[in-house]
Amino acid sequence: MEDLFGGAASYYARYRPGYGPAVIEHLAETSGADSRVLDLGCGPGTIAVPLARRVQAVLAVDPALEMLAEGRRLAGDLPNIVWLCGDSTTLRALPPFDHVVMGRSFHWMNRRSVLAQLDELLPPGGAVALVGPVRRPGEPWQPDAQPWQPVERRVCEAFGLDIHTAANSFHATGEHHHDVLAASPFSELESRVFTRRLTWDVDGLIGLQLSYSYSSPARLGDRLAAFVETLRRALLADNPAGRWEQKLVTEVITGRRPCPERRAARHAR
Ligand SMILES: C[S@@+](CC[C@H](N)C(=O)[O-])C[C@H]1O[C@@H](n2cnc3c(N)ncnc32)[C@H](O)[C@@H]1O
Repeated sequence: MEDLFGGAASYYARYRPGYGPAVIEHLAETSGADSRVLDLGCGPGTIAVPLARRVQAVLAVDPALEMLAEGRRLAGDLPNIVWLCGDSTTLRALPPFDHVVMGRSFHWMNRRSVLAQLDELLPPGGAVALVGPVRRPGEPWQPDAQPWQPVERRVCEAFGLDIHTAANSFHATGEHHHDVLAASPFSELESRVFTRRLTWDVDGLIGLQLSYSYSSPARLGDRLAAFVETLRRALLADNPAGRWEQKLVTEVITGRRPCPERRAARHAR
């Protein structure tokens, strides 16, 4: 499998913000303290590491060895994470798990096939939780929602880097995760939205940019230094104060198999 994030893992681990304690708390409550959770497309353990402190065990699976190495480093001596090289096509080879979480990784997969396999592998109460930015059908992949993004986009275009070149299933079909889950065996959906405020400096924004697959160090190759310099100059020309505020909005969509008792209990509340 192609390494989509070549050279990006250390930037990912350092500069991508975590989802925040409230998201982890929600995932822990959804799973239960005695559960084994599969984090599929775990990256450097953005979810796996904090979640492992709240559940019995985490199976952290990713096809990128560089991401797994960063994850192992960040997990330190946490005893209850197993890091495995694998992907959405090797689920049947995994040890048993009770629930699945996917943080910003589901769009890289054949989503229907993954959900069909999970229907075979998850126990009756098993949940599938998708964690990522809030995105409604018809919205662009990465709207210019953050103050630095128009500048970043201009520089990327000048270097021939286009977010839409990444061949993922969201771009290919435009079909929202909500709709894919709703049409799957995990059709009982719950959505929770969490907001955090972050402040960035110019080094943080450059590191963030290098953590994306479409502008990874491997993709930039020997243009990396020129890209970094051009982006730095453009960002500071646009905002000489060098401080950017971000409203980070994360949605957790949880899909479960329909359960008549749960539906009745919800209506009774
Ligand atoms: C944007 S990162 C997300 C990392 C982490 N889950 C997070 O929430 O920050 C996407 C990850 O999905 C992995 N990935 C790509 N294709 C995959 C597939 N078919 N199956 C499993 N993981 C995949 C990539 O290697 C990458 O580490």
